[in-house]
Amino acid sequence: DQKPVVILGVFVADTAYRAARAPRMGETILGSDFKLGPGGKGSNQAVAAGRLGADVTFVTRLGRDPFADMARATWKDAGVKAAVIETPESYTGAAYIFIEETTGNNAIIVCPGAASMISPEDIDANAALIRSAGVFVTQLEQPVAAAQHALEIARQAGVTTILNPAPAATLPDRMFALSDYVTPNETEAGELTGMAVETVDDARRAADRLLAMGVGTVIVTLGEKGALLHAKGASEHVPAVSAGPVVETTGAGDAFNGGLAAALSRGFAPPEAVRFACAVAGISVTRPGTAPSMPSLAEVEALLRAGG
Ligand code: RIB
Ligand code: NA
Repeated sequence: DQKPVVILGVFVADTAYRAARAPRMGETILGSDFKLGPGGKGSNQAVAAGRLGADVTFVTRLGRDPFADMARATWKDAGVKAAVIETPESYTGAAYIFIEETTGNNAIIVCPGAASMISPEDIDANAALIRSAGVFVTQLEQPVAAAQHALEIARQAGVTTILNPAPAATLPDRMFALSDYVTPNETEAGELTGMAVETVDDARRAADRLLAMGVGTVIVTLGEKGALLHAKGASEHVPAVSAGPVVETTGAGDAFNGGLAAALSRGFAPPEAVRFACAVAGISVTRPGTAPSMPSLAEVEALLRAGG
């Protein structure tokens, strides 16, 4: 009754620096903490889904270096299968994450390295895998052409498709028509529609625009305000699920998307799936790091039972 999940995307090593403020050009400042850990939006989503017990395969490219070893160890630990195209001529990517001490807010530079070479031909090489999925997910850290081709193959095979449009990019209209679910955060919803998205009402207006662009169902993630689930004739604001004090919000969107994929693969109806995904994200923000902060199924079920 649980269908396979296939996720296309990027692994990078997250190098997270905590400091009072970002350095200005030409300046050196001292930070207060540093952490190295597994990251990358697609890989984080795969780890989240894997920890939740989904049958998940992650499609990507890696270099041949210590960060590639970190990727493989991370997936093994989370029960994630990997379809990796080895790319020794490039490097496994890294992300610079600046975390502002006072607010916990972050600013990120991602260099995808080998994963920026993921091509439509790579997708063809994994076409049978994608067709065998119940749920397919992609984000936009690897080239858009590869994401679009994968959505095309998934759609033709009747696979449920999720496009997490992160980081925000200008997309061909066809991408929207190929997506059963599009899951922007407020910023991304704003950039995709050219509208300012701050309130739940703004999100609803932007979601209407995305429906008109051909999306099946829009889910706008709203941080501490939860998420808006919006389809033709049905709109529901699902409140956030709190699991304690917020430590780090980096990767919360990935927790949400991994949780959504896992829930849909188990046959949850959209409102239940969104509530489940909110709980996954709600736990992830109470812990440091991105992939390492993803909860187990037991933790999510306990939180939802407690009425969190
Ligand atoms: O969504 C969070 C992720 O975005 C981080 O893990 C970082 O690697 C960036 O890709
Ligand atoms: Na976290």
